[in-house]
Amino acid sequence: MTPHINAAPNSFAETVLLPGDPLRAKYIAENYLENAELVTDVRNMFGYTGTYKGKRISVMGHGMGIPSASIYFHELIKEYGVKNLIRIGSCGGVADDVHVRDIVVATGAGTASITNRTRFAGYDYAAVPHFQLLKTCSDIAQEQQIAVHFGNIFTNDLFYGCDDNLLPALQNMNILGVEMETSALFAIAAESRVKALSILTVSDHIVTGEETTAQERETTFDNMMLLAFETAIR
Ligand code: ADE
Repeated sequence: MTPHINAAPNSFAETVLLPGDPLRAKYIAENYLENAELVTDVRNMFGYTGTYKGKRISVMGHGMGIPSASIYFHELIKEYGVKNLIRIGSCGGVADDVHVRDIVVATGAGTASITNRTRFAGYDYAAVPHFQLLKTCSDIAQEQQIAVHFGNIFTNDLFYGCDDNLLPALQNMNILGVEMETSALFAIAAESRVKALSILTVSDHIVTGEETTAQERETTFDNMMLLAFETAIR
């Protein structure tokens, strides 16, 4: 047990899919896993373990923002021996050719957060996914003919009240989308020598104002799930 996870030892599979929203974790467990069991519920941050095509997989929420998510990433790795962490989240679209409901897979994540500099003696850490997971994900996208944008994203600390200079800078540097956890996931995984990947569905577009509803966000991400589960079991 940890301060934030009340699961028994060995309750988690080596691979955990991580949506931000615990109710999305529940939805995924109920709709994609076989024999899913609730293994943790501290603060209603639900985590489940079951099987997908016969392989043991877990799914757990991580909350919003780096401070919340980092707690779960750390405890899953250090206390439960998790080896593969695949974030399945949403992002705000930034690039012109990225549209609402498209899938973005992060090949790198810049950040507004100081946390990676804190980990890295004040220097700028290049937060990247694990190459093998990224390659597997790319292979599966090709095989399953799932359209995916691969590229750089930005992990922001603020959802509201961002610096006016941020958006032009993101556009200038061809950032595909903005979310709030991935740069920390990649750094924590690297520090612990485990593997991480971040697969995101575009829920809104911060330039064009395109949006999806909460209901759509909860239920319409089948292609992202397929990509995440098939990557998880390969
Ligand atoms: N996640 C989804 N949309 C977002 C946005 N516009 N900013 C930050 N995180 C997001």
